[in-house]
Amino acid sequence: MKSFYITTAIDYANGSPHLGHAYEKILTDVIARYRRLKGDQVYFLTGTDEHGQKVQQSARQRGIAPQEFVDAVSQEFRDLLPKLEISNSDFIRTTEERHKRVVTSVLQQLYDRGDIYRAEYRGFYSTRQEQFLQEKDRLPDGTWPEIFGEVTEIVEPNYFFKLRDHQAWLIEFLTQNEGFIFPKYRQKQVLEFLREPLNDLCISRPRERLEWGIPLPFDAGYVTYVWFDALLNYYSAVADRPGIWPADWHVIGKDILVPPHAVYWPIILKVAGLPLPKGLLVHGWWMQSGAKMSKSTGNVLNPLDLVTEFGADAFRYFLIREMNVGQDSDFSRQLFLTRYTSDLANDLGNLVNRTLNMTNRFAGGVVPAPEAAGEPEQELRALWDKTLGEYLPLCEGFQFHTALDRLFAFIRTINAYIEKLAPWKLGKSADPADAIKLRTALATMAESLRLATVALRPVMPAATDKIMAVLGATASGTWEEELAWGHRLTGAKVAEAMVLFPRPAPPAPAKA
Ligand code: ME8
Ligand code: MG
Repeated sequence: MKSFYITTAIDYANGSPHLGHAYEKILTDVIARYRRLKGDQVYFLTGTDEHGQKVQQSARQRGIAPQEFVDAVSQEFRDLLPKLEISNSDFIRTTEERHKRVVTSVLQQLYDRGDIYRAEYRGFYSTRQEQFLQEKDRLPDGTWPEIFGEVTEIVEPNYFFKLRDHQAWLIEFLTQNEGFIFPKYRQKQVLEFLREPLNDLCISRPRERLEWGIPLPFDAGYVTYVWFDALLNYYSAVADRPGIWPADWHVIGKDILVPPHAVYWPIILKVAGLPLPKGLLVHGWWMQSGAKMSKSTGNVLNPLDLVTEFGADAFRYFLIREMNVGQDSDFSRQLFLTRYTSDLANDLGNLVNRTLNMTNRFAGGVVPAPEAAGEPEQELRALWDKTLGEYLPLCEGFQFHTALDRLFAFIRTINAYIEKLAPWKLGKSADPADAIKLRTALATMAESLRLATVALRPVMPAATDKIMAVLGATASGTWEEELAWGHRLTGAKVAEAMVLFPRPAPPAPAKA
């Protein structure tokens, strides 16, 4: 079995999870489930990033110890996962021993090799972004952009990691490995960034300013800069599990590509003598009224509200159908409701309900064998082969929104097929030829629905299990075998008709 290792970013444990966090988990989960269905042995890591200034500040504001604070926040992130049907194999916290041990040992190794040195640092620091700023970050009027929050000038001796020595290597690596960053245009942006000389990375914070971090093994007066600590989670989680590292994909948002994941991380790994991940999958932002949803600005949406109302599968479907991976996407309840009603309640939900209903009415609830596949059946089957031929490569290329668009076009065509064959008319006819047509139509709609359902599995795990169960389907063979047109439901006993995706209640009339 091929092993496949995929990670999400680890979320800052300084506020509650929002839609952006939920999306990243779901996107990663869809890929993980897809790879599992393709037969890979998948290791899927997510977790929380628990050190640093922001966490220390948030804990102080609440008058509690940082550990107590992160325990609660981390639990909130962990509790979200099953509610979103996330199939992670592991959850790492950067306050765990297994992580601290690896960070400490990598730091010592780099120090011993001479890749870390001590020097005086003077600079402007943004606590919100946990990073030192550069003159070029200033606005034309000399002030700092809003995204940096409060910026303070700092002068102090610190430890530095030699990034600059590896700049030429990194440029060479990115030039040689064109597909390292998805989407490709982001790789160009990184190369653009690398045209300026890199500054060495300040990896320490003096204890008097920041206590909440992993102590430097070679100087107890300092703790480790949170990004140096955080990036290593991807390795520390699997350091004791042979055969997993390197990661296949790190799934991250576009705000943390440059410099952390595209510059610091490859250089840290190279210097530590570890293989590089195969790729960085960079998604865009969920926006609300044109602004990024973020904890720091407060325009956040609690993902669980929609999940409670409409279920995790509908929520997953919306996010994956709506977002073109890499680009930004606007979120609104209205957009969600429109998608939900048209695709799920009408197209898919209706198809399930009709298939069950007609199989019960006209065939005693048992899916008949097809008898005389005519032109409409052949057309539908040809469309399935074409749809599948596009669907899988689109998924491989992370074009899930288009893949789902194609799949739902197929689902709408099944509904059109049913309209055309009109089993409710065939059922009233006394002509034996119509009885054959009817059985063939019932078999064809059940088979097409089964195929669409099997294809939807990575995106909607619970709903597809449910549809398979009400169709009386029994699991057999590999996913690819199950995806082939083959009338696997012949003889299956279906359940009573049911409404899978209830239509949302109309908004309550405004009270005068
Ligand atoms: O950056 N839309 O943590 P974080 C889409 N701890 N994605 C979003 C988003 C939005 N509106 N807002 C945030 C950190 N994200 C670090 C990562 S990894 C070693 C350390 C994404 O809690 C964001 O891009 O601020 C990132 O990938 C993830 O959520 C966690 O963000
Ligand atoms: Mg952030």
